Amino acid sequence: MKNGIAIIVAVGLAAAGCNYALEDRAIPLAQASFDGASGNPVRHGERLGTVLGCNSCHGADYQGGSYSDDPDGGFIFASNLTRRVSALGDRELEALLREGVHPRRDALWYMPARTLQRLSDRDMKALIAFLRTLRPAGRDWPLPADGPATEALLGYGILDKGPAQVKRYAEHMPPDRGAALAKGRYIAAVTCAECHGAALGGGTAAPPIDRIAEKGREQLAMVLRTGTRPDGSAHGVMRYVAARNLSALTERENEALLDYLMTLGDARVSE
Ligand code: HEC
Ligand code: HEC
Repeated sequence: MKNGIAIIVAVGLAAAGCNYALEDRAIPLAQASFDGASGNPVRHGERLGTVLGCNSCHGADYQGGSYSDDPDGGFIFASNLTRRVSALGDRELEALLREGVHPRRDALWYMPARTLQRLSDRDMKALIAFLRTLRPAGRDWPLPADGPATEALLGYGILDKGPAQVKRYAEHMPPDRGAALAKGRYIAAVTCAECHGAALGGGTAAPPIDRIAEKGREQLAMVLRTGTRPDGSAHGVMRYVAARNLSALTERENEALLDYLMTLGDARVSE
């Protein structure tokens, strides 16, 4: 009898310590979606193109071009999607986005397949439906070339080439916080994880997210909205992420993301 009580108390403490209902655990990431996934697919896909940064690199009109802010960075050209997409079938396009492999070329250099592989089927279908509406315009661009500059970016882990990163991102997911926080986790897994690490434990240049939650919700909300600190100074690249990508999140998505991120303050997420 004594032993029985001791066991019950121990289990009770373990459950209280983790804060989240155990039966809520283990939600497959891809069961979540961005808001509007059951509405008009083309409109939904168009918004995803902004949230996911397709039009940061491929241009507001999706006609591609150099997307480097560095005047000497002309070697970085993003494809003109208005001209290229019609040469790819839906399956090929999905495989290209999820695996980072081009069906008719050697390799893809810059595509963030590591996070795009995590898109739910509904979001992926909508994104492809939107890409199909692009009307051919503009010119084609040279492919990124092997050379010291691209090698250096590869070395820093800024460039994605080959399946290694895709595999790592498939195996290391951001911590699961149950059904109620599944949407926020999904959004973080397909956006923030691109730079902040597969499981949000920190990337080459971006800090781990557990340190981020420690700043408090207000400050975090400000970084997501403006990419700046309370004193107005910029958080590096976050200024662009906030203006170009996160500004297209719905209010509900933004709150879901904050709710999820705020649970990570005590987590030592391993990469
Ligand atoms: C970080 C910049 C970047 C982002 C973000 C990005 N792309 Fe790309 N994408 C590129 C570059 C650069 C190429 C050409 C690279 C190559 O062929 O090696 C490319 C190639 C492609 C291709 C192959 C086109 C062809 O020539 O056949 C498709 C399709 C594509 N991107 C779609 C997308 C979509 C959809 C998104 C958003 C989900 C996206 N890209 C996000 C940089 C990016
Ligand atoms: C394109 C890469 C990129 C993406 C995508 C990105 N971040 Fe960042 N983030 C960075 C980098 C790099 C820094 C460090 C910048 C600095 O402070 O100099 C940073 C800094 C931050 C900071 C400030 C950290 C601190 O020490 O105070 C927060 C908060 C943050 N990111 C949250 C997010 C969240 C949440 C997402 C997803 C919604 C996200 N970021 C997406 C690259 C990125």
